[in-house]
Amino acid sequence: MIKPQSNHLRQTQLLDGFWTFRRDADRIGEEQNWNLGFAGECELAVPGSWNEQRSELEQYFGIAWYSKSFIAHQSWQEHGVSVHFGSVQNHAKVWLNGTLVGTHEGGTLPFQCDLSASLVPGQENLLVVQVDASINPWDLPPARIQANAKNEGFHNSNPSVTYDFFPFGGIPRPVTLQITPEWERIDKIRVETALDREANHAKVSLTVSIKNSTATSVLLRIENDSASAAVDASGIARVNIEISSPRIWDIGSPELYLAEVSLQKDGKTIDHYSQSFGLRTIEVVGNSLRLNGRDVFLRGYGKHEDFPVLGRGLSLPLVARDFDLLAWTGANSFRTSHYPYAEEWYEFADRHGILIIAETPMVGLCERLFASEEIKGKALKLVSDMVERDHHHPSVIMWSVANEPWIESQKGTDFITALLAEARSQDSSRPVTYVAHNGIEINAACHDCDIVSVNRYGGWYDYPGDIETGTQYLGKVLDKFHSTFGKPILLAEFGADAIPGEHSLPAIMFTEEYQADIIEAQIAAAESREWVIGTHVWAFSDFKTGQSITRAVRNHKGIFTRERLPKMAAHRIRQIWTNK
Ligand code: GCU
Repeated sequence: MIKPQSNHLRQTQLLDGFWTFRRDADRIGEEQNWNLGFAGECELAVPGSWNEQRSELEQYFGIAWYSKSFIAHQSWQEHGVSVHFGSVQNHAKVWLNGTLVGTHEGGTLPFQCDLSASLVPGQENLLVVQVDASINPWDLPPARIQANAKNEGFHNSNPSVTYDFFPFGGIPRPVTLQITPEWERIDKIRVETALDREANHAKVSLTVSIKNSTATSVLLRIENDSASAAVDASGIARVNIEISSPRIWDIGSPELYLAEVSLQKDGKTIDHYSQSFGLRTIEVVGNSLRLNGRDVFLRGYGKHEDFPVLGRGLSLPLVARDFDLLAWTGANSFRTSHYPYAEEWYEFADRHGILIIAETPMVGLCERLFASEEIKGKALKLVSDMVERDHHHPSVIMWSVANEPWIESQKGTDFITALLAEARSQDSSRPVTYVAHNGIEINAACHDCDIVSVNRYGGWYDYPGDIETGTQYLGKVLDKFHSTFGKPILLAEFGADAIPGEHSLPAIMFTEEYQADIIEAQIAAAESREWVIGTHVWAFSDFKTGQSITRAVRNHKGIFTRERLPKMAAHRIRQIWTNK
């Protein structure tokens, strides 16, 4: 699936704006045929989570319905028309004019539905979406099987989930109509690049999947070079182009190319798509992570897609501001913890030379889920869907298949090992990892990682109130992981909560001084180990969580507030990473 695009043959129409909204707590909407339309209880903005748009929706974790009408242009009669959702959180059913046109499971990756069969050109059409945001112990990520369940996350929170962030609901990313000249159209594009820096040469291979294929060929143009290939009986065309003296994508010089893909039929071009990509190498060599053959040290953060009122909703000013603040602190990278983000984040990073560790929504997994073949199937598909969507971004330098799986048995290890293998089978060009949090002995899956990623909170969860002992403890943990697995280590999370405006002398927990001091001490401890390839502070900004006695309104481990105002730690990190 490719993102909607406007070009000389394709048109898009954004359906963002105010949609009619109604909760369906009693789940009567389908039997009452709300798919034909319904009386709304209010209007809500799309993109955006529903939780913080109205007080009565803040703690609503159930089914709700959205509807939006649009006029279909008369000329769309003979065109291909589909609707693309950047994501719907968590599960969706989509109707057009009462006809079911699609369903989707999972709240962090896109999907699209073909509309032409039930579209009425020249008239008003009604798009209805049922959104299921109920928290479910068999979803990915999961709710707790019951409150206070052992080994199902480490916060007894309300709502009761196994992870430490808020289970928003809604339509948090853009909804876009894509109109193509014909039903037959370019559906997927897989870009594989092989850069040979020594030979100053690159090979670009495209695999193009055609929907409703009767076409004869695909023409690929990359600047002055072009090549074409026939579409085979299964609707696939494979085409290669060689580039001499390639412009290499790098942190300081984010060079991008456009692959211009044209679908040819009877000598006529019936579809076109411009797919951006970059040429760079990323590899693990001994105890180093190397970008274009040079050691690179990842300085940055774990983040969330989270902002007041927006919830998980995409906001381009927020994307701009977060990247501005990343650069202000001297960061070069972040992890999309703990789920795939909106594509606009990766596109911005591509254009500005920021490195991304792309993570799946497998967070808070535990033994009862590892034992389920159905869950394993869903998890493997989430890995492959994430790679399909994001493989062409040069900013994505690593896949993280899970965060803090609560492994207690070989089943858990096997589950994570299978996810790592899936990521590699889908994309052999990038290192793979998962983020470990508890003891060495149950992280045997680290043997299958290219980079071992570790979360550890010395001076916070371990040795609270004692930065010195906590930092020594952190050092010992890093040493043990390295000596056990013999791989480069990413310190993927460390830090402390700081309530904005709280200060103390000497520094004590929950003050800005304590957070800044712990981060400074642990950056130094990590950087003193030559096999540590990065330090990602947890977290970039404060973020919304469920209610819990361990969360004073929200998680305060951000170095910026939820509104993106700097705490003392932000200034301290800027000084450490930029000497300013
Ligand atoms: C964990 C987890 C984060 C969580 C953090 C914390 O390591 O990965 O999602 O927010 O700890 O407790 O603040």
